[in-house]
Amino acid sequence: MNTARLLLDPRRRVAPVPRRIFGSFVEHLGRCVYGGIYEPDHPSADADGFRGDVLALVRELGVTTVRYPGGNFVSSYRWEDGVGPVEKRPARLDLAWHSLETNAFGLDEFMRWVGKADVDPIMAVNLGTRGTAEAVDLLEYANHRAGSHLADQRRDNGAADPYGIRLWCLGNEMDGPWQVGQRSATEYGRLAAQTAKAMRRFDPDLELVACGSSHLGMPTFGSWERDVLTEAYDDVDLISLHAYYQPVDDDLPSFLASAEDMDRYIDAVTAIADSVGAIRRSTRKIMIAFDEWNVWYQSAAPSTPPSGEDWPVAPPLLEDHYSVADAVVVGGLLISLLRHSDRVTAACQAQLVNVIAPIMTEPGGPAWRQTIFHPFARTARHARGVVLDVLRDGSTTTTDRYGVIDAVDAVSTWDDSAAEMTVFLVNRVVDTPAEVTVDLAGAQVGEIVECVTVGGVDLDAKNTADGPDHAEPRPNDTVQASDLGVRLTLAPASWTMLRLRVTDVTP
Ligand code: AHR
Repeated sequence: MNTARLLLDPRRRVAPVPRRIFGSFVEHLGRCVYGGIYEPDHPSADADGFRGDVLALVRELGVTTVRYPGGNFVSSYRWEDGVGPVEKRPARLDLAWHSLETNAFGLDEFMRWVGKADVDPIMAVNLGTRGTAEAVDLLEYANHRAGSHLADQRRDNGAADPYGIRLWCLGNEMDGPWQVGQRSATEYGRLAAQTAKAMRRFDPDLELVACGSSHLGMPTFGSWERDVLTEAYDDVDLISLHAYYQPVDDDLPSFLASAEDMDRYIDAVTAIADSVGAIRRSTRKIMIAFDEWNVWYQSAAPSTPPSGEDWPVAPPLLEDHYSVADAVVVGGLLISLLRHSDRVTAACQAQLVNVIAPIMTEPGGPAWRQTIFHPFARTARHARGVVLDVLRDGSTTTTDRYGVIDAVDAVSTWDDSAAEMTVFLVNRVVDTPAEVTVDLAGAQVGEIVECVTVGGVDLDAKNTADGPDHAEPRPNDTVQASDLGVRLTLAPASWTMLRLRVTDVTP
């Protein structure tokens, strides 16, 4: 049996829980939009063509923000194609995913969907094939009240009120050779700065995200962030990080510890951003938008876009089916994001429906929860108040990829108003349980509200439309109050959420 001791002190606060880290991502890719959130012929579809069963699951998932419309798609997208009378909208070749974009769904549909899903939008502009002018046009169409050509066009299209979109991504993965319109860091940094300055002339209070590296393994990682921020430091508020995880060479222990990679990535980009700020003697801090993260089996077919003469409409792409082990990893990645809540103030799991997604649909049929749905939904619902700086010690484990790491990873939130402490834990060891002591720093356990676990058994099991749901959180009966706080046992390779009502907290 491994052991871990956690010290949770409500006085040791990292930052308020940034609710925007429970974001998701809808790209015009595969069946995410068409056949995902939008399927007019579906029995549950409403008058706008939005699937009601998907909307219900999105609300249950607890998503707070949704990034749109890409992803790689945005880098050759003309937003104007997707507004106005549907019968007049042009069908276009989508160069990113080798598909035919009908444009039946566009900005106005997305904003109506956002309202029904009760989430905030994050809008990406095309800085691949387009530039500052088109970005500012989109901003005028979306956010200007009335009286200008584009604002009035929006009103004519049925949206009398401006959308008030606050958070904007300046392009997508502009360092990637696969990106339409890839640029050098300096070129992109200048374009991002120029676009940001123009957008701020319309509204100085927008929040703007510059593209960081597409992933930590990019050959230009580090110098990309430095050079982009050297150009754009004073003009942007956040820099993006993207990371996708999968087991490499069947190395499950390292895969379960994927949060180590996320921790190191966030720490590295924070250090680079702060070094650029220090050289400029700036008092501003650049925050992090981890606006694409998830498990993604990139080696699996058909993760690559089709090619040749055929340009299909909404072909099934990137439709990963997730295992219980994948759900444990997703729970661990959320722990990493929360731990960094002083710097990571926005994040998007990629993506929302069908495309590497927690929600799957069948055309004309049911919508259902993948295994990874559950840790996300529970974390999004119960991570409230402030994030605590958890002091950990205990057993370690050795992984091929990350060396010696703590066997148990954990983060905690403290909600003063509800006197509720929530602890999220992962036992990252494949074959050994862990006994955990939670020390509440003098506070007392009033009530153990809930303790549930995902994983520990059937790590390879996957959900299907017909069930059963292999990752439905099940009660963890090992939890009990102790002199210090509580004790509980974590099954090997499992994610656990523990909710406590706490009394006698030292102010
Ligand atoms: O989420 C799938 C793709 O992954 C996105 O389009 C792109 O930004 C990233 O490479």
